[in-house]
Amino acid sequence: MQDDLERVLFDERTILARLDQLAAQISADYRERELTVIAVLNGSLIFMADLLRRIPLPLKLDCLSVASYHGGTKTTGEVVFKQIMLPDVAGRHILILDDILDSGLTLNAIRRRLEEARPLSIKVCVLLEKQIDRAAPIDADYIGFEIGKEFVVGYGLDYMERYRNLPCIGVLRKELIVQ
Ligand code: IMP
Ligand code: MG
Repeated sequence: MQDDLERVLFDERTILARLDQLAAQISADYRERELTVIAVLNGSLIFMADLLRRIPLPLKLDCLSVASYHGGTKTTGEVVFKQIMLPDVAGRHILILDDILDSGLTLNAIRRRLEEARPLSIKVCVLLEKQIDRAAPIDADYIGFEIGKEFVVGYGLDYMERYRNLPCIGVLRKELIVQ
């Protein structure tokens, strides 16, 4: 799997060291409020597991599953909620966790949908943010790392559902991407 990478951007040690900092920041910000985390599956699974174990606060966890990619490397623009029941967010302080902020369409759709259910607050935390002009108006409140335009895999991020279990984050070799 590692051989399929053009280069490694963040190794496991670097990722976990950054999670220590993010977790400290989130713990300080939510010291006085009960936090409800909503993790966007499947991409945020590994990030969520490592981040939440670093936050020593009482919190609730819910998951949400959406599809927007349909296997390619470009978003289709349409965001489909894969479950009928959305998590109960009314009256709660919500922190949405996702793997990557790319076009922003996914997180924007999720945020707007959850806002309709009247939470007390909503913030967004992403492991990666791509430095591009975003199609949707959304900013993340907590960002692990900023990256360029390349397509990355590993540490939860996939290409056609593969590479999620790579412990590092790297750029996928271009010849492996089906045009
Ligand atoms: P957005 O709606 O364009 O912001 O894309 C959101 C989703 O697309 C993410 O949650 C990822 O699942 C996927 N995605 C975007 N960029 C990448 C990438 O570089 N590698 C792997 N998945 C990506
Ligand atoms: Mg994906």
